[in-house]
Amino acid sequence: EVVKDKHGIQQVVLQNHRGASVRVSLYGGQVLSWRNDRGEELLFTSSKAIFKPPKAVRGGIPICFPQFGNRGSLEQHGFARNKVWVIDKNPPPLHPNDSIGKAYIDLLLKPSEEDLKIWPHSFEFRLRVSLAADGYLTLISRIRNINCKPFSFSFAYHTYLSISDISEVRIEGLETLDYLDNLCQKERFTEQGDALTFEAEVDRVYLSSSDVVAVFDHERKRTFIVRKEGLPDVVVWNPWEKKSKSMVDFGDEEYKQMLCVNGAAVEKPITLKPGEEWTGRLELSVVPSS
Ligand code: BG6
Repeated sequence: EVVKDKHGIQQVVLQNHRGASVRVSLYGGQVLSWRNDRGEELLFTSSKAIFKPPKAVRGGIPICFPQFGNRGSLEQHGFARNKVWVIDKNPPPLHPNDSIGKAYIDLLLKPSEEDLKIWPHSFEFRLRVSLAADGYLTLISRIRNINCKPFSFSFAYHTYLSISDISEVRIEGLETLDYLDNLCQKERFTEQGDALTFEAEVDRVYLSSSDVVAVFDHERKRTFIVRKEGLPDVVVWNPWEKKSKSMVDFGDEEYKQMLCVNGAAVEKPITLKPGEEWTGRLELSVVPSS
């Protein structure tokens, strides 16, 4: 189903037969909502979010490309999240498992003249967003170099998970990893052996993690399983009290209800030669836990 938001931008709603749903905006190719079959929203969106270009909506899953954060000369998190994508009616085939039994939409982003002035590399970015019968949400990004010289980029699925309370969650799967701390001049540290819990601002890039990370929410008795492929790093972000107050599109207390856990390729940029394609995949699911 294709609907229009109040600014005239198209949104695609995917549904499975059990009543789970996903909403994707063509603005940024951004997933704005993911609901389970009980109608519960699983992604966080700020009550102060501004649904008006030229800024990405504060919540859901903005796509950071061709730059993550401010590690480069482009605007923070790159331009892809601030562009209007188109529906790709005839995408090159994916593996049949990526289609069978799924509701999905294919989107496409190509650079405009203006984009080429700030980042002079021709690419085709194909995004498939799919909702499986069991409610899994999958995002598959395929980025192709259609230029005659190589280019490099960094990338993240900036995933705002909705949680009960930041003091009630823990992340497993990042123990003992090295990380870059954005709050300390991007210095490198090593995580201890325990699951990650939260009591202050966090803004870190965990390096070369395993492909599965779990986010346990004790109060809601559920666990998000984040599975990734082609994305070596995991960005963990929570702005906490002080930074929340400085963001116009974020409520002062909302840091308690969100946690960003982002499949990403940050430390080592991806390089594509002419004609080459990169694939980065993210699968989110939720399981009950005690
Ligand atoms: C995080 C960055 O991933 O995104 C933070 O590491 C940043 O430094 C945050 O503040 C939000 O970014 P933005 O541009 O969406 O406000």
